[in-house]
Amino acid sequence: MRFLITGGSGYIASRLVKFLRSQSLHVMTISQKDLCESHNIQCKLGDTEALKRALDASSPDIIIHTAWVNSLVQCEKNPDDCRVVNVDNSRSLMRAITSVAPHVKVLFLSSDYVFDGSRGAMSLT
Ligand SMILES: NC(=O)c1ccc[n+]([C@@H]2O[C@H](COP(=O)([O-])OP(=O)(O)OC[C@H]3O[C@@H](n4cnc5c(N)ncnc54)[C@H](OP(=O)(O)O)[C@@H]3O)[C@@H](O)[C@H]2O)c1
Repeated sequence: MRFLITGGSGYIASRLVKFLRSQSLHVMTISQKDLCESHNIQCKLGDTEALKRALDASSPDIIIHTAWVNSLVQCEKNPDDCRVVNVDNSRSLMRAITSVAPHVKVLFLSSDYVFDGSRGAMSLT
């Protein structure tokens, strides 16, 4: 089983890398930064063509999308910038996946600021 995790430098991603490796699973990350790690592909999530190359290079079975501005304060202060990361970049990622790796399963992390359970279970299509 091969994993690809976006937001490679982040809190959740870095811990997932350690955990999945401890289970002898193959893990690669995408980060906008140069993490100086052989498992990382440096790539901007808004760049669909670069994402397609990253998907080809990593051949994942499962993608865990953690690249997100998760600060509510930041989202309220800079809604347009945060929309680029949280909405537009996620859309670019999904476009790249649909185009070159449609069989891949995607795990999309979010927050209880968005899904607090008050409206019941989400139905996804
Ligand atoms: N931490 C928690 O306890 C917790 C709890 C519940 C849910 N979650 C959810 O889990 C996800 C990840 O959370 P986290 O705590 O790991 O966040 P984090 O440490 O802030 O990491 C998020 C990653 O997203 C990328 N990113 C952030 N801002 C960006 C920007 N402006 N432009 C481009 N890339 C940007 C960065 O990755 P690169 O620079 O490496 O590309 C960053 O390291 C979020 O959806 C969050 O809501 C987290």
